[in-house]
Amino acid sequence: MENLILVAGATGNLGQKICRELIKRKAQVRAIVREGSKQEKVDTLEKMGVKIFKVDLDYEQQLINSCKGVSCIVSAVAGLHSVIVDAQTKLLNAAIAAGVPRFIPSDFSSNFTMIPVGENRNFDLRKEFYQNLDQSTIKATSIFNGAFADILRYNTPLFNVQQKTVAYYDDKADWKVDFTTMDDTAAFTAMVALDHTAPRHLHIASFSVSPNDLVSLSEQYKGSKFQLVHMGTMEGFSAYNKTQRAAQPEGENELYPKWQQAQYLYSMFLVHHSHLDNNRYTGLSWSPVEANI
Ligand SMILES: NC(=O)c1ccc[n+]([C@@H]2O[C@H](COP(=O)([O-])OP(=O)(O)OC[C@H]3O[C@@H](n4cnc5c(N)ncnc54)[C@H](OP(=O)(O)O)[C@@H]3O)[C@@H](O)[C@H]2O)c1
Repeated sequence: MENLILVAGATGNLGQKICRELIKRKAQVRAIVREGSKQEKVDTLEKMGVKIFKVDLDYEQQLINSCKGVSCIVSAVAGLHSVIVDAQTKLLNAAIAAGVPRFIPSDFSSNFTMIPVGENRNFDLRKEFYQNLDQSTIKATSIFNGAFADILRYNTPLFNVQQKTVAYYDDKADWKVDFTTMDDTAAFTAMVALDHTAPRHLHIASFSVSPNDLVSLSEQYKGSKFQLVHMGTMEGFSAYNKTQRAAQPEGENELYPKWQQAQYLYSMFLVHHSHLDNNRYTGLSWSPVEANI
């Protein structure tokens, strides 16, 4: 089967980059877009050479038609249950009906399979779809990239440039946190889409740095040594996140409410990669930490 890749979520930040990387590698690329997708984003994809399929996910036959002849589906959709579970399941069912052999779900996160249910709402949604995938006949690959590196510029407690602080929990001042740039994630994902032997899980990171590393880096690259702040125990952090979630139920309808961001930080201190698959493919380069702080 030739390399014909169908990208869902191609109008999004990561999805568009994945399309670009696939085209660079001479793959044929299709994108399913929605009636309401922004036209300028669709135009950009078309200019790159992506073939556009305007699809209503509720019309199974349209979805199946868009999947015909496809060697791998890459999903980079973002959303809550209706997207991560419902829309991706519709796409999975269409892929199976059309005989697509492989599926890369929109995971692009820490390894959520190692995080207990209830600790990270967005990861729980991924877990639900993960089970749907594993119960199907399709060959799946989840790409775990830790956090996107641009969060180091968002003044999160982990690295707060405004307050000049670096946070840690428990005794984890030397705990390595995995970060991958969106560009590096997209390039690696394109390679995975073209790799018929890719395993179920792949772990990548542009760089892995600890709170202590970030303090040293602040001195080198930010002009002053940031203060290392102990934020309490992981147990306390988990309990706090649950209280915040219960107190702000309106966040259940938002993709990144404050408590979800805190759940993500908790996840980054709960699991990290024990090995990296960065070297699985030749020709990829990985952005260094100093380019991202
Ligand atoms: N690890 C991290 O730190 C991190 C950080 C951010 C994101 N992520 C993950 O990276 C992936 C891509 O995120 P992103 O930031 O690139 O997303 P994004 O820019 O918000 O794009 C989302 C894409 O999903 C599509 N979409 C949304 N709802 C849909 C629906 N109901 N049916 C079909 N398509 C739908 C959008 O299409 P339209 O254009 O039609 O709306 C768009 O193409 C997600 O899995 C996200 O959770 C990870």
